[in-house]
Amino acid sequence: MPADKTGKTKLAVITGGGSGIGLAMARTFARNGYSVVITGRNAKRLHDALSQLGKDQAQVTAIPCDVRDPASVEKLFQEIGKLRSTIDVLINNAGVAHTLAPVEKLPIETWKEVIDTNLTGTFLVTRAALPWMHAGATIVNNLSIAAVQPFPGMSAYNASKFGALGFTQALREDLRKRGIRVVALLPGATDTNIWGQFWADAPREKMISAETVAEAVLHAASAPANATIEEIRIGPAAGVL
Ligand SMILES: NC(=O)c1ccc[n+]([C@@H]2O[C@H](COP(=O)([O-])OP(=O)(O)OC[C@H]3O[C@@H](n4cnc5c(N)ncnc54)[C@H](OP(=O)(O)O)[C@@H]3O)[C@@H](O)[C@H]2O)c1
Repeated sequence: MPADKTGKTKLAVITGGGSGIGLAMARTFARNGYSVVITGRNAKRLHDALSQLGKDQAQVTAIPCDVRDPASVEKLFQEIGKLRSTIDVLINNAGVAHTLAPVEKLPIETWKEVIDTNLTGTFLVTRAALPWMHAGATIVNNLSIAAVQPFPGMSAYNASKFGALGFTQALREDLRKRGIRVVALLPGATDTNIWGQFWADAPREKMISAETVAEAVLHAASAPANATIEEIRIGPAAGVL
């Protein structure tokens, strides 16, 4: 069972942990001996997620948080501080996509929601978590293949993920001397409900599972402290799009 220097179980904090890839990561980390905190805006979704975890839910705590809101993020870490004095793994996973639209038809509200969640949210959560993180800890930012590859109709999503990749790379340099590993996670098409936001009939059967992504993230977080894993690119071998 993973343990920190004090012998306590290691703690993983996963934003957007109530569904999809985040929930799969919560299950995978809990099954591998971690204590886990999952967050999301929707308290009912978090509650339902806990019940889906079966016996693994004993190791998982759900705390509602909106990553766009600095006060909500601050409150999240106050609550986490009541549970533990250190965070071993932070996974910035909360994210939204948007209805496909050419730039001239993209509402400003959509642009702001996507940038605030996927880019600013990643910054806010990371900033609040860092005082609790020490050498040997790992930060994983769930970006997307859309952080390096443009797609038509997805300008806000692409901009948020390209930006979050830049943030991730700068963060890695900030933290190199502190011995905190920063991993850019770039999944391709993964079978989750996010596809309903822009392509309802997407061929889910061709996608990889959220569990496959979760296993790769666990592997990166479990690497020896002196090893750097900077990027995980994972997706369907045969492609989907
Ligand atoms: N599925 C794919 O093919 C794929 C590929 C590459 C990257 N990704 C990335 O993977 C991440 C997870 O997505 P998913 O595919 O697992 O879809 P998902 O099931 O829709 O998960 C997104 C999660 O983010 C949470 N969330 C959204 N806005 C939030 C906010 N403002 N504050 C806190 N939590 C928020 C949602 O919970 P609430 O609604 O309760 O807040 C939800 O649990 C995203 O960053 C996505 O961009 C997905």
